[in-house]
Amino acid sequence: MKLRRVLLAVALVALHAWLISILAGGPADPFDGGGASSGAAQTVHNFPDARDLPPAGWTGPVFHLSQSYPQSLPASGNEPWLQYDFRTQTVDYLGAILGYALDGNVAVDFQGQSNAVRTWYHAPWLHANALKGREFIHGLTRERDSPASSLAPTQTRPAENWAVSMYNPPGGYVLGQVWANRDAPDPTHARFPVGTVAFKLIFTTATVAEVPLLKNDLEWQADIDRATDAGPRPTLRLLQVDVAVRDSRADATTGWVFGTFVYDGNAPGATVWDRLIPLGAMWGNDPEQLGTKGRLTETVINPAARGLVQHLGYEGRLNGPIDNPASSCLSCHSMAQVASDLSQPTLPSVPPAGASSATLAQYFRNIPAGTPFTAGDESLDYSLQLQNGIANWAQATGVRFPPPAGPRGIEPRMLTPSEGVRITPIGR
Ligand code: HEC
Repeated sequence: MKLRRVLLAVALVALHAWLISILAGGPADPFDGGGASSGAAQTVHNFPDARDLPPAGWTGPVFHLSQSYPQSLPASGNEPWLQYDFRTQTVDYLGAILGYALDGNVAVDFQGQSNAVRTWYHAPWLHANALKGREFIHGLTRERDSPASSLAPTQTRPAENWAVSMYNPPGGYVLGQVWANRDAPDPTHARFPVGTVAFKLIFTTATVAEVPLLKNDLEWQADIDRATDAGPRPTLRLLQVDVAVRDSRADATTGWVFGTFVYDGNAPGATVWDRLIPLGAMWGNDPEQLGTKGRLTETVINPAARGLVQHLGYEGRLNGPIDNPASSCLSCHSMAQVASDLSQPTLPSVPPAGASSATLAQYFRNIPAGTPFTAGDESLDYSLQLQNGIANWAQATGVRFPPPAGPRGIEPRMLTPSEGVRITPIGR
């Protein structure tokens, strides 16, 4: 009798533990997220979707991180931009890239994992930042604020800008490789293959009264004030769309073509997407033209769009309306790197006012794809989302946990702090 009761108790305890482990989905982990799980042959990364969960009673859209990264390098597929020379047919090249980025994404409101044409992927670890981390409605992260008058002469107060980016399948493959072991990101895998495309939708809190070009625009609600009720959230308007393309025809400079579009509510197009006007492209920083006032040969600005913006980048290099006029797309992105010692502080992303010509020459170099800005550091191949994701991961976890076995087996962790984590995310 007694023995039977003991056996029954043991069996019940075992059953209970087994049920709990199933319900909990494996061993408890304080940094486990709530992301959608992935298909059979794929690693379940389960990075968190956003900084906050939607509140009870929320009925609006909810952002899910697209993180079922391809496990082998996908075929490049249709690459319509290759028909055009970005130097001489810049507007057509940019139009082909924009069409590719929008293809299938407009229909699903930019939920990349639901795109019927091709899946698009998000970089992980952009949630974990108190001020700038991903909000839960559209996955927007906070970008540089726009000072008064920087978007239009009628803009009387600063505006906040928030954005979301996605990578195409070759880019998603690289994101998955860098983060294959989610407790030990490996920057040596940050080498984007030719054909990688990333794009970014940038929204602003500026109103139509302040910036008249924003009329008849795409409006998204975003949880930028971090409210806790289920009521409406602030409305943001699409202002700028950025693209980055790994194109081998640019290998003599940086290997990348960066381009940007501005929204013009007065343009004749039928849809918001038709009213996005290409502002320009750049594939190098024109290091030979620093301080010369000479004609740039590695930036092309679309003359038809020049009047839509209040400024460009440094000495006319490409930058968008929300960007800092003292920088350029490629110079800032050429700094995407991480020191293997996470105690190294992150370099500033824009040269200081009055920077020496030596500093400017460093900042506006043409750095080939996959080459670090600082000799000895690990390049992140122009991806600042990889850089900020790693910085957030290091800050939030303190790199405390030993890396568990990843798909490639147990590897030594490449990135460790010697004297505490000093790496920080950078702004734009
Ligand atoms: C001074 C720095 C800076 C400048 C200038 C800048 N960016 Fe970025 N960019 C960033 C940062 C930081 C991120 C990552 C943060 C985020 O997305 O939340 C980023 C992200 C991106 C991404 C997403 C892919 C990735 O991981 O890097 C694209 C695409 C992009 N920028 C394109 C552009 C284009 C095009 C321009 C010029 C019109 C530009 N950027 C100018 C700092 C900059």
